Order: sequence, then C-alpha cells, then structure tokens
Amino acid sequence: MCGIVGYIGQKDAYDVVLKGLQRLEYRGYDSAGIALYDGNQLNICKTKGKVSDLNTKCIADNVRKGKIGIGHTRWATHGEPNDVNSHPHVSNSGRLAIIHNGIIENYDAIKKVLENRGYTFHSDTDTEVLVNLIEEVMMSDDHKLGKAVQIALNQAVGAYAIAVFDREKPNEIVVARLGSPLAIGVGDNEFFIASDASPFIEYTKSAIYLEDGEMGVIRLGREPRIRKIHNDKLIDPYIHELKISLDQIEKSGYEHFMLKEIYEQPEAIKDTFRGRMLADKGVIRMAGVDDHLEKFLNADRIIIAACGTSWHAGLVAEYIFEDISRIPVEVEYASEFRYRNPVIGPNDVMIAISQSGETADTMAAIKLAKENGAFVFGVCNVVGSSISRETDAGAYTHAGPEIGVASTKAFTTQITVLSLMALKLGKAKGTISNSDFHLYLNEMESIPDKIEKALQENDHILNVAEFMKNSKNSLYLGRGYNFPVALEGALKLKEISYIHAEGYPAAEMKHGPIALIDEEMPVVVIATRKGHYEKVVSNIQEIKSRKGKIIALVTEGDDTVKNIADHVIEVPETFEAFTPLLTTIPLQLLSYHIAVMLGKNVDQPRNLAKSVTVE
Ligand code: M6R
Repeated sequence: MCGIVGYIGQKDAYDVVLKGLQRLEYRGYDSAGIALYDGNQLNICKTKGKVSDLNTKCIADNVRKGKIGIGHTRWATHGEPNDVNSHPHVSNSGRLAIIHNGIIENYDAIKKVLENRGYTFHSDTDTEVLVNLIEEVMMSDDHKLGKAVQIALNQAVGAYAIAVFDREKPNEIVVARLGSPLAIGVGDNEFFIASDASPFIEYTKSAIYLEDGEMGVIRLGREPRIRKIHNDKLIDPYIHELKISLDQIEKSGYEHFMLKEIYEQPEAIKDTFRGRMLADKGVIRMAGVDDHLEKFLNADRIIIAACGTSWHAGLVAEYIFEDISRIPVEVEYASEFRYRNPVIGPNDVMIAISQSGETADTMAAIKLAKENGAFVFGVCNVVGSSISRETDAGAYTHAGPEIGVASTKAFTTQITVLSLMALKLGKAKGTISNSDFHLYLNEMESIPDKIEKALQENDHILNVAEFMKNSKNSLYLGRGYNFPVALEGALKLKEISYIHAEGYPAAEMKHGPIALIDEEMPVVVIATRKGHYEKVVSNIQEIKSRKGKIIALVTEGDDTVKNIADHVIEVPETFEAFTPLLTTIPLQLLSYHIAVMLGKNVDQPRNLAKSVTVE
C-alpha cells in the first residue's frame, strides 16, 4: 500500500504535496515522487528512498513550481523499489500523470493489448499500464479525462485509489477508489486529495470520503462531481466535518511517534471510556451493541477476524468474552479465514478488529461473513474508514491518530472496547453478578492511572533494553490472558528491532522451545500474581536451571520472582482480565528502547507499512 496526495488551487502545490507525503509516509516509504504542472509543462521528480530524499532531488532538479500537483509515497507491490517504478507514472504521450495505491490484477493482459497497439512501458508496474489504458481510451474515442478514467476502470480488476491529471487541462484532477481509501479536502477554491485527512487537516476541516466504486472529477470553481464508476449514477457527496487536530498528528516533542503513542495510552483509554462507561451509575453505553443486543445474546458464537496486533487484541477478547459473557469465541486470522471455506451461519456474530479500518484481508473476511448472513460488528480506530462503513454496526476505539507503524495505543484501546462489550453482554446475559459488574467497572476506571504508573518504569526498562539489545533471539512467555500479550511483545520486538522473537504459552515451553534455552537466550516472562502465578514461577525455575536470562514482568511488591530473575519490571495489581492493559506497556517500551539503541527506524521499520490494503 502507498500514500497519495494531490492539490489544486492557489497555493504552491509542491509545499502542500510534499508535507502531505511526509504525513502519509507511514503507509509506505520505499520510494516517492511528485508531478507538477508549471504552466508550460508537466514536471516529474521521483526517487527511491524517503520523502526527504525526494525533497533533496526536487530541489536539485528545480521541480517545485505549479498550482496543481500529485504525489506518492510507495510500498512496492509490482516491481522493486527504484526510481523508475516510483510514482507518478506518465502516459506514452506525456499528457497524463497518475498516482495509484492498490493493485491492478489484470494489468498483464491489458499491457499485452496496449503493446500490440504500439504502447511502450518503462517500469514493471501495473500503474503505468493503467495510465496508458486511460490514454488509449481518451485518444481513441476522444473522451474527456473523467469519462476515459471511468471506461478504463471498468476494464480493470483489482484495487485502487488513483488521482490523475492531464497537462492539457490543468484545472482538474480525476480521482477514483475501489478497496483503497481516498479523501477529498474541500477548501476555499482549492481541493486536496489524500489517502487520509492528515495531509490537509491544517487547511480545511471539510472532507468528502469517496466510497468504494466511486470516482470524482475535481475542478476549480465548482463542487466535486462524484459518480458511480460502474453505472455512471451521480452521487450527492456528504461533506464530513473533521474532528482531528494538527497537534494530534504531530510528535509534540517526542523523539518518535511510537513513544508519543505509548505515552498517550492513559488519555487514549479515557477517550475510549468517554460517554460509554459510567462507573458511578453502573452503566456501559455502547449504541452499536445496544441497538443489536439480541444479535449478540442469541449468537451461537462470536468469530473474531483481524490481522497482526489487532488479532492479538482479538485473542485477549476471547478470554474475556468466554470468561465473563460465556459466549463461545473463535479468533481467526482474517487472511486464513477468507480462503478456507469456513462454516458461518446467520446466528454467528463476527467482530472485525482493525486500527486502520482498511486492512484488505479483514475486509474480505467481513464480506464473506456478510454473504453468509452473519451480523458483523467493527472495532476500528480510523473514523469513516472502509471497515467502519462496511460493518453492520460497530464501536470506535477513539485512540486518536496512530502514526507509528508499530501499533501501541490502538491495541490497548481495542482491548478496552472489547472488555466493555464483554462486561455489557455479561450483565445482559446474567453471567456476571451486579456486584461483580460494579467491581469490574470501578477497576476499569483505575486502569489509566495504573498505566501511568507502569510508564514510570521507563528508566529501569532502559537498563533492561541495554541487557537485551545484542541478542539474536528471544522468547516471550505468558499464560491465560497474558499469552496474547507475549505474542504481542514478541511482535513488537521483531518488527522494529529485527531481533527474532517468539511468543509462546508458558506451559508449552516444555513441548519444544525449551530446547532453545541457553545462556545466550533472553526469556521475557509475564508472571503477574493473578492467573497461574505458581505455575509460571515453575517455568521461570526451568529456564533458570538451563541458564536462560530471565526478564520477568511481575506485580508490584513481588519478591519471589525478584530472587530468581535477572531483571524484574513491576506493574500495578489489577483484575486478571485487565492485566494485558498493564503488562503490554513495559513490553512496548522495551522494544522501543532496544530499536532506538540499535539505531533502527522505529516509526518506519523496513518492509512494513501502517495499513495493509493489499493481500
Ligand atoms: O490496521 P489493522 O489493525 O487492521 O492492521 C493490522 C496489522 O497490519 C497491524 O496490527 C500490524 O501487525 C502492526 N504493524 C503491528 O504493530
């Protein structure tokens, strides 16, 4: 997936597009490019590398002039990341410039047809094929750009968010989306185009989110004209009033977005509670659940579908839903579920979890569940995202923008939403007593303060990071509610520091991974007092006797483990069901510090991107 930005108006397009690309770099950062029309000609500047490299190149090449421009930051799908494969791509005649986020699956067949008609291709990309297909339609039947885009897209199979302009008509940009997000910022006689609203939030609070299968012709001096790609139906666009602020998407003095987002968790969780959890009244209000309560109460089971960190949040939810609301839960990797002919029925409820709300595999799992009659509930962070629109109902996590590629506050706020749902359903079903319900709510309310306390271990975690940073491998162990936290801790370490890390249920260690343990192997063990504590302490002894290095997460005041482990990190005491909200915090900080010590790019780890809108 990639980030796309466009501008048309009175400002210098270069400044708007470049700054926008920097904000969208989380979506892809292996190459970047920009196309500008300077009043005489179309100028392209593109390069392998980051947006900062693009800026250096554009300054050197003197490509910065123009009031209309489009830009792209890429995460390669077709063709290796190099200058030629970078976007924008230009049609054979040199008239059209395009940026594209997505994949045109039938590009090879289209390419052959175009080659037979004399077109030549310079890159390995599907996008260059698309722009030439648009040109072919435009030239052969004398269509305007908008119509040519529409006809071409009706021949294309795949996913896209595109922006294309014609140097002969430099007062309009044509955009379209299917499966990849695209927002249009509506300013005062100026328009912005972007994969999300962050590139234009400082200029306008009015945005149109294109729906899947829609395209728009954006021309100065009139309202954007939006229509359905397949049947030409005109759409009256809804203009959203944006609530995010510029400050929310900047680093606010932190060295990295990831660190900022780790520290934002107490506030983010309070935002997740806001208006929902009224602990003093003993009430949880969630409109998405209230309006469909019967669906949940009559469900044969809940199927949770997600990817990556969101899948780990789903695993935590499995424990709490089964524990408190006594509803059977299955947690599925969306990428597996969508292709394995699963048994789904109208009495199933799917909960799809996604920070971005754009993950292609999760979208496909939702589609499959809906086709089979299941009710689908979304837990998303990004407001107005595709998943939040595709689902039957849902609850936002309200974590605020998460820019660091490694997910942090999205995870804890997902667990918070899912815990509130489990408690609400438990109360409605009578599987939890009123008094326990009140106790849970009161404890839940204390979680933000307890996270603040867990964050105070930061200086000590720096020492632990120093102790672990040169390891080549590591094991993360946990039981019960903390098994998913072990998985998440391991994922955080490997994705930003590139140290191999495995998460395992602590008791499974003796069935294989114990063979890995020697004096070189750090083992991070989550050994909080609630939940199989004695058994985990036995596991720690087993590691100790094989000379493994032990880093243990313990409940405040624990002396037993302190006497065995090389390092202990304390977290405040809480109910077993809420321990993941606390034990996750030191593991995030540990990964962060190790990656910084190793000089890695924490916010933009190699090969990754923030939202995975391709399979
Ligand atoms: O936006 P989503 O929550 O659907 O994204 C799912 C995964 O791609 C994401 O959690 C990924 O694993 C993160 N890099 C983890 O830090």
